[in-house]
Formats: sequence, structure tokens, C-alpha cells
Amino acid sequence: MNRIIEDFSYLRKTNCKGVYLDNAATTLCPDEVIDYMSEMQKYNFVNINRGSYKLAEETFEKYELAKKKILHFFGAENDYLFIQTTGATEAINIVARCFLEDNIKQGDVILISECEHHSNYLPWRVICEKKGAVLKKIPMDENGNIDIENALCNDNSDIKLVSITHVSNVLGKKQNVESIVEICKKNNIPVLIDGSQSVPHYKINFTNIGMDFFVCSAHKMLGPFGVGGLFVKKSIFSTMKHNYVGGGMVLDVDKLLWKDGTEKYMAGTPNTVGMLGWGATIDYLNKINVFSYNEHIKKLADLLYEYLKNKKEINVYTQDKDTASGIISFNINNIHPHDVNEFFRNENIMVRVGNHCSIPTMRYLGIKSCIRASIYIYNNEDDIKKIMNTIDKIIY
Ligand SMILES: Cc1ncc(COP(=O)(O)O)c(C=O)c1O
Repeated sequence: MNRIIEDFSYLRKTNCKGVYLDNAATTLCPDEVIDYMSEMQKYNFVNINRGSYKLAEETFEKYELAKKKILHFFGAENDYLFIQTTGATEAINIVARCFLEDNIKQGDVILISECEHHSNYLPWRVICEKKGAVLKKIPMDENGNIDIENALCNDNSDIKLVSITHVSNVLGKKQNVESIVEICKKNNIPVLIDGSQSVPHYKINFTNIGMDFFVCSAHKMLGPFGVGGLFVKKSIFSTMKHNYVGGGMVLDVDKLLWKDGTEKYMAGTPNTVGMLGWGATIDYLNKINVFSYNEHIKKLADLLYEYLKNKKEINVYTQDKDTASGIISFNINNIHPHDVNEFFRNENIMVRVGNHCSIPTMRYLGIKSCIRASIYIYNNEDDIKKIMNTIDKIIY
């Protein structure tokens, strides 16, 4: 595992003295991706949708290839269309505005889980406020599983969308999205899956899951900032209206006719270097066989989980069966998480403290904030020992 550290300038530079455990917020970016992006910035920094010279064409081909790699990585090339976004947040907002807004009326329902990130909560709240629709939360059982069958049985309203997170950014809980989609399909209800936290950890095949929309961000899977995707099932795409208007998406300026492929979402100049970087990230993930690190991540997460679970002063919110996502959330009794973080700061241990942009989850847990350590491929046992030693010092 130490070999992987060599791929990341930050880890080499600090000689792993800093302990980076905020991977659920953003993963580090490997040098290979940074170098490739820098090369593209130096030698291919041209406008792909406008130029008809050779360099623009060559760069456009690279851009299209990056898209293909991304679609292929998710087993999505046959059934899904890719819309480039700035990340998962923008992707969800596009679905809210371009798919749902015109199709939802007073009394209709949008279903989400009890543990959504604000990015998969606020866009629906806003639409519901505007249209008089109702945003409902699907109850979870004691293991954190969504009981979708029950939710559908108990609701006679017109359910316009089920939008759920694949893996909770606070609990690490992974939902059985295959079964949720299957049940929703039987009831003709479209499903959106927020894959922000699942894409770094699980091999996902979109065709096998069969949801209508999937969203994710590159920066949570070793890629660059400012780029992500909305993946739309081909069969539902024609029901969506355009988003922004401007250069690149118009067919007839006088008649206000828009292109009807994914280009209708391409108003303005796209973040080309970001997309090329995401493509290079996919190459890197394939090269290192990223999912071969799953056991390593789980081993480290279990080590921390067991340690925390055995301390009577500590409340652990992640369940033992959910450690594979590398996310462990907890609090130390009677010490505010921000005060706990002062100790971590002094030791250069980087964890996330607060409500994790998920007040719904905080309400579900009956707390206001907590500490989240999130583990990824380059973390090692020393990192876990350092955080455990620091907690020992805080408690005793
Ligand atoms: C579950 C979940 N959904 C959505 C987002 C938003 O991602 P982004 O800020 O990249 O748009 C995050 C980010 O933490 C997340 O964890």
C-alpha cells in the first residue's frame, strides 16, 4: 500500500506527517492526472466547440474519448447519455429544473431518504415550495435500509420522483439501489441516485441498476474539481427541457429552436481541461485497479470502528456493517466536536467536523454535529493509530 503514496505529491511532500482523513469531502489527486491536465493546459488549451483547425479537432477528440472512458467505467455506454456538469450538485439541480419542474403540480410527491446531503434535499425543497408539492422522507429500518415498498404502499399521491443517496456521506450506509429501482420501475416512478459517495468505493454498473438519473463528482474519485456528470437514461432524455441558453446549444436563433441531443446542455464553453482530467483519472483508477483496495479500506475502517466502539465515552453513528465505505462518524460524550477538532488540528489530523451539509441526517441521529473520519486507498495503519492515540489523549 505504501507504493500508492508515491503517486501523490502531497503525501510525498509531507512524508505522510499530515493525516488526511477527509476523503468523503474530496480525495487527493494523483500526479499522473495533474501532470496530464497541466500538459493539456499548456498544449491543448483551445476551444473545442468553436475552432475548425487541427488542434481544436484533436482536442475535441480527446474530450470525446474522455467522455467514452467515463461512460465505459460505469457500464453506461449503451443505455445512458452523459451531460457534463460542475459536479453532483449542479446535476441534481438540472434534473429538478429540466425534468421535474414542469411535470409536478400541487399535491404531488417527491420521495427522498432521511439521510440526504443538502444537494439532494434543497433542490427538491425549492421545487415543492414553488409548486405546492410535498417532499416526503422514506422511513429507514434499524439497519438504515430504506423501506421503499412500504413507502409506496402508504402513499396514494402521484409520486413524481424518488431521489436517494447511494451511500450516505455521514453514515457510510449503502442502499440496495437495485431493489429500490426495481420496485419503483414496477410503479412507473423515475429514480435518481446520488452516487457522490459510492463511485470512489464500489464498482457500479448503471445498466444493471437501471435508474433514470445518476449523478457524481470527479473530485471524490481522485479527479479534478469543477467537473462531474449527470447520466440520463436514453429513454427519459427526450422528456427533459434545456437548461441554460447561449452559444453551442441553439439550432435556430430566430425561432428559438434548441439542439435536441446532450448538446442542449452545452451552452457556453465547457471545462475541457477538467473533462480531460476526469478521463485521465479513469485511466489511473483502472491502472491501479482501484477496487482491489476495498479490503484495505475496510480493514482500516474496522480498526477505527472497533477502537471507538469499545470506548464508553464515544458514540459511533456508523454501523459495523457499513464500514466498507470508509466513513466513520462519531462524537465524544460531553465534548463539543469542534473542541475535539482542536486536538486533531494540533496533530495535523484532517477530519471533517460539523453537520456535513446534511442537517436531515443530524436530525435523524438526534444530534447537531459530529466528527467524520473518511478513509481512502492511500491511508495506512499509522494514520489510524495517530487518530486513535489522539483520541486517547482527549479522553484520559
Ligand atoms: C452524498 C453527497 N451528495 C452530494 C454532494 C455534493 O457534491 P459536490 O459538492 O461535488 O457537488 C456530496 C458532497 O459532499 C455528497 O457527499
